[in-house]
Amino acid sequence: MKLGLANTVAVVAALGGLVQAQCPDYTTFSQSPQGNKSAGPLGLPYMRPDPACRTFNSSAVEQVISDMKSRLKDPDLARLFENTFPNTLDTTVKYFNESENLAFIITGDITAQWLRDTANQFAPYHLLLSQDEELKTLVKAVINNEARYISQYPYCGAFQPPPESGLAPSFNGYAEGVTVNPPVNNQTVFECKYEIDSLCGFLKLSRSYYQATNDSSIMNDNWHTAIDQIFRVIEEQSQASFDADFNFISYYNWTGGNGALSPAVNNAGNGEPKGYTGLVGTHHRPSDDLSTFAFLVPANAMLSVELTNLANILDSARRAKNVSTAARTWSSRIHDAIWNTTVVDNIFAYETNGLGSRYVMDDANVPSLLSLPYLGFLDKTNPAYVATRKLLLSRSNPYYAQGKTFRGIGGPHVDAWNPWPMSQISAVFGTDDDSEILTSLYTIANNTNGLGLIHESIDIYDTTSYTRPWFAWANSYFAEMLLDLASRKPQLIFKDAKPYLPGQQ
Ligand SMILES: *[C@@H]1O[C@H](CO)[C@@H](O)[C@H](O)[C@H]1NC(C)=O
Ligand SMILES: *[C@@H]1O[C@H](CO)[C@@H](O)[C@H](O)[C@H]1NC(C)=O
Ligand SMILES: *[C@@H]1O[C@H](CO)[C@@H](O)[C@H](O)[C@H]1NC(C)=O
Ligand SMILES: *[C@@H]1O[C@H](CO)[C@@H](O)[C@H](O)[C@H]1NC(C)=O
Ligand SMILES: *[C@@H]1O[C@H](CO)[C@@H](O)[C@H](O)[C@H]1NC(C)=O
Ligand SMILES: *[C@@H]1O[C@H](CO)[C@@H](O)[C@H](O)[C@H]1NC(C)=O
Ligand SMILES: *[C@@H]1O[C@H](CO)[C@@H](O)[C@H](O)[C@H]1NC(C)=O
Ligand SMILES: *[C@@H]1O[C@H](CO)[C@@H](O)[C@H](O)[C@H]1NC(C)=O
Ligand SMILES: *[C@@H]1O[C@H](CO)[C@@H](O)[C@H](O)[C@H]1NC(C)=O
Repeated sequence: MKLGLANTVAVVAALGGLVQAQCPDYTTFSQSPQGNKSAGPLGLPYMRPDPACRTFNSSAVEQVISDMKSRLKDPDLARLFENTFPNTLDTTVKYFNESENLAFIITGDITAQWLRDTANQFAPYHLLLSQDEELKTLVKAVINNEARYISQYPYCGAFQPPPESGLAPSFNGYAEGVTVNPPVNNQTVFECKYEIDSLCGFLKLSRSYYQATNDSSIMNDNWHTAIDQIFRVIEEQSQASFDADFNFISYYNWTGGNGALSPAVNNAGNGEPKGYTGLVGTHHRPSDDLSTFAFLVPANAMLSVELTNLANILDSARRAKNVSTAARTWSSRIHDAIWNTTVVDNIFAYETNGLGSRYVMDDANVPSLLSLPYLGFLDKTNPAYVATRKLLLSRSNPYYAQGKTFRGIGGPHVDAWNPWPMSQISAVFGTDDDSEILTSLYTIANNTNGLGLIHESIDIYDTTSYTRPWFAWANSYFAEMLLDLASRKPQLIFKDAKPYLPGQQ
């Protein structure tokens, strides 16, 4: 479907920033090739919006693009980096006010701020925060906005614009007919599925900012309240469903109607019962699908890692010891429970119920089992990771699928025959094997439907069939992987073998 968008862009370019209103909708823009094509065999188009239509400018980001373009040997990979690395800043900063310390970041084609997505959308920019004062201020404003959300609604993961922005809340058809407890206000909350990794996302964004800047001013009252709320959720959701007298304990429940999950969740919106293990339960997965069992192992791995990071930044900033002590206690409790209760014969379960049941599979979204090294939970050479990875990338994982052109891990969010490029990115982070890395890299690059952006899922029977044309996190994750290879495996992707670190010559 061609809509003559290139012409609209030309008009905008000619008139400059005065006609922002004429900027094309990026959901539509991203569905057809726009600028000139890269010189490689894939001929991937230039897909950045016109400068006047970009939602945030950073000269530090432009410098990294130009450095990487001059070093990458394959012009198609260079084009993918050029399109994906700035995508979050180019297209998703819907509101930013420095004096209010508030920023609203959308996921791409869904107009809401997801705690999980923002943490990952900004992940590849952290190395630049000490060089770009405005970018640093933006990330700080994102953190403060999220601290405010979490202090009110710690069980929710996706939010509406802050009222100060004057932006209207968006209607979410998937939240229609849904009853959630504790109840939420749809002017603030876009969707309230309880996913423990959403809170991990906030912790990751906070500590990445602190590690990059040493700036403890993010730890304001909103932030400390949010941290207290996170500990409340951890305490509540680690408990067994039944107490000693068989009273059923529920702190959160979700009863669906005609939205994404139909029919309603079993056990009056609580899902499957769980026992106590030291792990923290979740209700939905990172894909926003309902969990089969509550103890989502990769999310607990991320939580264990981020709680240690939290303790470290609190101690470094000389904050109240009780919080860092609690963080360290929980971090090692979760760590031990993962190794003691979820691994059998070197194979991690994706989910357990704490009562002996395990579900061996993997889902494409991060946190996933395949991404355990990326999350910082273990080393990619750990025998349990190596054995589990082999299983996950085979028929033994019900959500692995392989067609003529595309292969990888998917999930029930789309369906079993639509794997996600993100799973191939996680695979790259989890290996040092050059040929595996190149195969994953080109499995992704060859399958953008000629659009030069990273999509959510791709049909293994039809490479032109994909979901989510504008998925900012997937774009950031791809760019983050190329930056990782630039320092870890320069000879594989560069014209020369000199490692590259953004911000360093
Ligand atoms: C392709 O387009 C980009 C962005 O507009 C521009 O910077 C570049 O010079 C163009 N390259 C060629 C060969 O036309
Ligand atoms: C980014 O820079 C362009 C000029 O190159 C300008 O037209 C645009 O308004 C800037 N965007 C923002 C958000 O400042
Ligand atoms: C930022 O917010 C302050 C306080 O609400 C307001 O006075 C100012 O006009 C806003 N600035 C921008 C650029 O919107
Ligand atoms: C909020 O909920 C009310 C009542 O269901 C509905 O009429 C309204 O459209 C919703 N607003 C948004 C922004 O979702
Ligand atoms: C749902 O959760 C609320 C707490 O948010 C609790 O009071 C209520 O008993 C729960 N209901 C069920 C049916 O589990
Ligand atoms: C932060 O502080 C540590 C310890 O003092 C120091 O090693 C590091 O270089 C600082 N980082 C930045 C970005 O200032
Ligand atoms: C730490 O102590 C403060 C002040 O006594 C209290 O408000 C907060 O809830 C405590 N936090 C944790 C995680 O124990
Ligand atoms: C769990 O693991 C830790 C450390 O690996 C170990 O010290 C502890 O004894 C284990 N606990 C149980 C109940 O197996
Ligand atoms: C990618 O496509 C090229 C042809 O352009 C082909 O030679 C290569 O084998 C493909 N790689 C993968 C991993 O599918």
